[in-house]
Amino acid sequence: MNTPMVIRIGICGLGTVGQGVWKHLSRIRPELEARLGVKLELTRASVRDRRKKRSVTIPAGKLTTDSLAVATDPNIDIVCELIGGTTVARDVTLGALACGKVVVSANKALICKHGAEIFETARRHGGHFLFEASVAGGIPLIKALREGLVANRFPLIYGILNGTCNYILTQMEEQDAPYSAILGEAKQLGYAEADESLDVLGWDTAHKASVLTFLAHGTWVKPEQMIVEGIDRITPGDFKNASALGYGIKLLAVITRDFTTGELSVRVHPTLLPESHVVAKVSGVFNAVSVQGDVAGTTLYIGRGAGQDATASAVISDLVDAVSLLKNDRRAFITARKRPGPARPALACRLAPPEHIRGRYYLRLTVSDEPGVLAKIATALAAQHVSIASVIQSAQEPAGAASLVLTTHQSDERAIGTTLRRLSRLSCVLEKPLLLRIGDFSE
Ligand SMILES: NC(=O)c1ccc[n+]([C@@H]2O[C@H](COP(=O)([O-])OP(=O)(O)OC[C@H]3O[C@@H](n4cnc5c(N)ncnc54)[C@H](OP(=O)(O)O)[C@@H]3O)[C@@H](O)[C@H]2O)c1
Repeated sequence: MNTPMVIRIGICGLGTVGQGVWKHLSRIRPELEARLGVKLELTRASVRDRRKKRSVTIPAGKLTTDSLAVATDPNIDIVCELIGGTTVARDVTLGALACGKVVVSANKALICKHGAEIFETARRHGGHFLFEASVAGGIPLIKALREGLVANRFPLIYGILNGTCNYILTQMEEQDAPYSAILGEAKQLGYAEADESLDVLGWDTAHKASVLTFLAHGTWVKPEQMIVEGIDRITPGDFKNASALGYGIKLLAVITRDFTTGELSVRVHPTLLPESHVVAKVSGVFNAVSVQGDVAGTTLYIGRGAGQDATASAVISDLVDAVSLLKNDRRAFITARKRPGPARPALACRLAPPEHIRGRYYLRLTVSDEPGVLAKIATALAAQHVSIASVIQSAQEPAGAASLVLTTHQSDERAIGTTLRRLSRLSCVLEKPLLLRIGDFSE
């Protein structure tokens, strides 16, 4: 009988995700080995602090603080980069790929910042880079885009990609409580980081949108090139106003592509979604993504977007793919240069200018409570041909101020941006206006 091939795995980073991978891989290893016909060996792991207490037991001889040594160890076939950040993680990833290894990553920030270099290094040296865990945690969204929906082009992809924000928005609405109180609660429960800014200001969602855009359209769009707005200025009153209009509020990534003009738009912003919409009903830390394919139609994915177990599930699915690559096609390392890349080749594609990004808007203004204010506001909107669809007015603190909530008919990002700047300069507008987009998605 042939002795089974031994696949040696190195894990760089044994934090939340790394420990989850170690735990679940140790548990399911016999089943995977039987299925794959190989031996899986957790060979080495790296951490920053070897003395830190961990929820998994790792033999002392397997633990090191030298991540690069794990990445480039000739005895290791697959390297899991679970450190996070874009410095050491980049060195580890590029180091392993330069040795022709398979790298499995959950690191959307790294992919967003250095994706082009990573995939080029993999191509050049015959390595492979797998990243299912980087977007939407336990939902196999990347496999869906890359494999299940390969026959499709994607005019529209949108969804909730950050569980922390979805938790905060859900609780604000349910408890009728302000953002700051719910953020504090989310930190206590471990749903929000000590520094929450990456999540709540939309940048984490933007990193994931960048990865999805690369997969779906073969081009890199950096967060700096997107509209990125967070949830930190939303108030309980906005939920009441939205509800009165028949909407809920979700932080969405929205990726649209016009295949006639080639224009692409990628944006992240809080969005009013009709209350009856499936995505509007997805609450708590869950993610939900709607993918419109030109062949399959719309498919919808809902599940846990983060957390130790869900993310470990995605990492282990990549490990299994990595084993299949190594086992069935040792020649993969030799022929890798001829392999298609991870994303589809970019058709002629450019970013849509703001005037081509159209939609309806919700605008909340704190104004002085005096005659003639509405006329001044209406004049500012009319100057950019932004027409008002509805108005809700209510008295507000401080005394003498009123809250004015307008919704608009179809307009565009350039017109609404100019309008906002103009409104901010009016003496009757007391605070920076809040702009939310209205998501007119049918499914
Ligand atoms: N947490 C989630 O739910 C989740 C979901 C999806 C994707 N991700 C991604 O998964 C990755 C890991 O996230 P995480 O939440 O597991 O992070 P984490 O809990 O902070 O763990 C990071 C690990 O990396 C180690 N580390 C840090 N710097 C190091 C260095 N210079 N050399 C060696 N090891 C080093 C840390 O060592 P010590 O333990 O000794 O400090 C720790 O074990 C990130 O890219 C994250 O974006 C996380």
